Amino acid sequence: MLRRLASDQPASFAFTADNLAWAEGQIAKYPAGRQASAIIPLLYRAQEQEGWLSQPAMEYIADMLGMAHIRALEVATFYFMFHLQPVGQVAHIQICGTTTCMICGAGDLIDVCKEVIAPNPHELSADGKFSWEEVECLGACTNAPMAAIGKDYYEDLTAEGFRQMLSDMAEGKFVQPGPQNGRFAAEPVSGLVALTEVGDDKPAYNATVSRQMDVRDGLKRIDGTEVPLLTPWISHGALDADKRATPVANSPKAEAAPRVNTDTATVPADVTEPRPAKGKPVDGTGVTEQEATAVNKGAPEGKSNPDAAESDASEEAKLSPEEVKALRAERRARRAAKAEAAAENEADTGRKPAMLSAARDGNADDLKMIKGVGPKLEKLLNSMGIYHFDQVAAWEADELAWVDANLEGFKGRASRDDWVAQAKLLASGEETEFSKRAKY
Ligand code: FES
Repeated sequence: MLRRLASDQPASFAFTADNLAWAEGQIAKYPAGRQASAIIPLLYRAQEQEGWLSQPAMEYIADMLGMAHIRALEVATFYFMFHLQPVGQVAHIQICGTTTCMICGAGDLIDVCKEVIAPNPHELSADGKFSWEEVECLGACTNAPMAAIGKDYYEDLTAEGFRQMLSDMAEGKFVQPGPQNGRFAAEPVSGLVALTEVGDDKPAYNATVSRQMDVRDGLKRIDGTEVPLLTPWISHGALDADKRATPVANSPKAEAAPRVNTDTATVPADVTEPRPAKGKPVDGTGVTEQEATAVNKGAPEGKSNPDAAESDASEEAKLSPEEVKALRAERRARRAAKAEAAAENEADTGRKPAMLSAARDGNADDLKMIKGVGPKLEKLLNSMGIYHFDQVAAWEADELAWVDANLEGFKGRASRDDWVAQAKLLASGEETEFSKRAKY
């Protein structure tokens, strides 16, 4: 299954005040240094707030947890309980299309989705209330066919029952989750054949269904209903032409196209050739398949400077795979040393702005009202002596350059998110679009 970020992303994300307090409570459950363990509940709460999980939301949460953005992205794209594109206002329907469910009628459920919601997965229904997709086995095979909707599983479905369920949900009616054919849980449809003595006084519903019958929040957004929906997602997997990646190296299509970095490129949906196994040596030399291909095709490891690349390629073309490997290791070491030296110079960039030893009157401004500043960055700024909006608002260009270069782990963030312009508004008592959302 291909899981891509939506091409249309909101400018920013912030938890509502209540959700922020909840998130901080979750983080506090973990020992110091282990906050990253809260990633899944926080991502899920962001989704519960807005209906889907945007890239700014992933980055915001990664910042809260002191993680690299890519790590949050990895989690969000791995689990398909996270919706990476805008979804229906009422619900996003995930139909299991794996073997058991397919044998038991998942195809009929998908037909209902196509007819009642939209012809294509990830496309909003005309009224914006629903969207759907087919997913892989959700682990409820005994109760096939089934669908995951909101927080719950709806099992033992029939096409007609499912159609009625959608209609009830559209009208805001509560639909009981769990088995829809009278089964208690996953016992045989014909009734218990063992442990029959517990059958008589069992509760009306299994534990999961009982809880939902009490709480009834399976489809509810949490303090996020005021967030406007984005432009409807039009077509699954649709990427703007200019965002499509060039075909991967080694594919027939690559013959006519420049080589791309297969570690970072997005592979378009229409490229079906298998990607070469990353890092897997093709022989005992330790030279990877990509490296060998690059040598064979005369393509160099270096990418950005065409002259250097050409000279690298001609240098490598005369060498054995072992020598290519050694040469590349040497080049990598040289590049690392150069990058380290550049980083050291960067720390001296610009002019250090005036810092404070503590917040004035012990009252620091909430720097998280500046878009791009999460709890971790706020702590870092405070540790540097930055506590107030007016300090940030006063930065000259060379001071901004110094801050950018010294935000360890967040270099360049201050100018990229234009902190100075935001801080000027906040220091004068005005709100920014971001701070308005962050407060509520
Ligand atoms: S096959 Fe559908 S839940 Fe497993």
